[in-house]
Amino acid sequence: MKIEIVKTNYKTEVDALIIPVFVDDAQALARIDGMVGGTLRDELVKSEFSAELGQKIMVRGRDKVKASNVVLLGAGEKSRYKTETLRRLGGEISKIADDNYFSRVAIELPKNSTGNVRALAEGLWLSEYRFNKYKETSETPKLKQALLLLKNPNINHERALQGAALAVLGTTFARDLVNEPSNKMRPKEIVQIAREIEASTSQINARIFTKKELEEDGFGAINAVSAGSYTEPYLIHLVYRPDKGKVRKKIALLGKGITFDSGGISLKPAEKMSNMKADMAGAATLLGLFRVLPILELQVEIHAVLPVCENMLSNKGVKPGDVIKSYSGKTIEILNTDAEGRVILADGLSYISKKIMPQTIIEFSTLTGACLVALGENIAAIMTKSAKLKRDLLRASRRCGEKLWPLPLEQDYKKKMESDIADIKNISLDRWAGAIMGGLFLAEFVPPEIEFAHIDIAGPSFFEKSTISYIPSGGSGYGVRLLLEYLRIVSQ
Ligand code: BES
Ligand code: MG
Ligand code: ZN
Repeated sequence: MKIEIVKTNYKTEVDALIIPVFVDDAQALARIDGMVGGTLRDELVKSEFSAELGQKIMVRGRDKVKASNVVLLGAGEKSRYKTETLRRLGGEISKIADDNYFSRVAIELPKNSTGNVRALAEGLWLSEYRFNKYKETSETPKLKQALLLLKNPNINHERALQGAALAVLGTTFARDLVNEPSNKMRPKEIVQIAREIEASTSQINARIFTKKELEEDGFGAINAVSAGSYTEPYLIHLVYRPDKGKVRKKIALLGKGITFDSGGISLKPAEKMSNMKADMAGAATLLGLFRVLPILELQVEIHAVLPVCENMLSNKGVKPGDVIKSYSGKTIEILNTDAEGRVILADGLSYISKKIMPQTIIEFSTLTGACLVALGENIAAIMTKSAKLKRDLLRASRRCGEKLWPLPLEQDYKKKMESDIADIKNISLDRWAGAIMGGLFLAEFVPPEIEFAHIDIAGPSFFEKSTISYIPSGGSGYGVRLLLEYLRIVSQ
């Protein structure tokens, strides 16, 4: 869909002029009523329109309004209005266009702000996403052109539009990777994508560890988890270095890349196991970010480390009770082969700590079902000992609309992972605080001088049934926009 910024006028011939209105805004209703020759009044009496978010009412365009239709779109309470409202309205507008076969619309923005332009554009574009490459016939979105009407458009609004386009590109790239079935998106296909990203720019380089190298170098945790599958594991290390200028900060990102999680010998139940093709969403998020990173020209060195493999079961696989030696040197007693994410990530964290030595590590993983139980599908959990990292990430979250909620790293609980025969167990002795136990396990593999945040995206990385207007069901690309905002905050 093409989005254009236009100075407010009602002369353009479009299928619909869409005007967001707040609850109890009689003035706005009177103004619009005047624009359409008093026909709105009758319609309001007939309908139950109260301007709640997403509610709508439609009248014919006439008199000064050249649009075929005028749509009043509820924007909710004015006091609760934020940029996220506009993202949601973007999603609603896409639906209205689909339902009514509108291909060209004009949308009046409630405020002149650049943040609003960006959010509305994100909402429109993100809701346009479809994953239908394996369907013979599929519906395409109806909306082809959206004009954003602004009182005083300027160059900053154009920039906001470009910012939105970038965020959407990265997000949809990640969505595609997550939505691919696991027989099409195996570790070697992810390596291929990392190679393509590397080849696209001189600022990004890739180092890829093969199975042989992982064995020689002692990545015992990755080797144990991948042992049950005939597909070979990889560790992908991408680095972005800005062309010029002094690098002040080095940030490392880590993403879980289990291309299919069967649970291993501790087999998952059959129901919904298919969703475990999305267990590489953390890795997909980082690839989505790296896809657009060079365009941003940030003065930060950014590393992305992606352990990628399958968690399958076979006579060669790791078994409950086995003890393995991780890259850090610490031994891990594997008591549940389905708690595999933290195991491969342990090697990722030690690799980053030893070889990259950044100030900061932010890790994304679909780590625990417990996190979904706690926060549901819309919200990811953040666990960190660093007040600063928490503050920056929560700020980024509020700005981009990707929700994040803190869980405590309750140190006392570490006792529950003490092993009789190894340095640590990969699960707790009971079921309580499952999401926190994952975070505590991971934090054991990070030295104290590095600030570390674990983000459990088991919920928002994949929607069985989305309740957010601009996120279709399936892979959401969660985390790309969060990281873009975060990087903007720390690179200033
Ligand atoms: N990939 C799963 C977590 C998950 C579950 C993500 C549901 C998204 C939706 C992870 O590898 C896993 O199986 N974790 C176990 C840990 C447990 C054995 C301690 C879990 O959550 O049951
Ligand atoms: Mg390159
Ligand atoms: Zn698992």
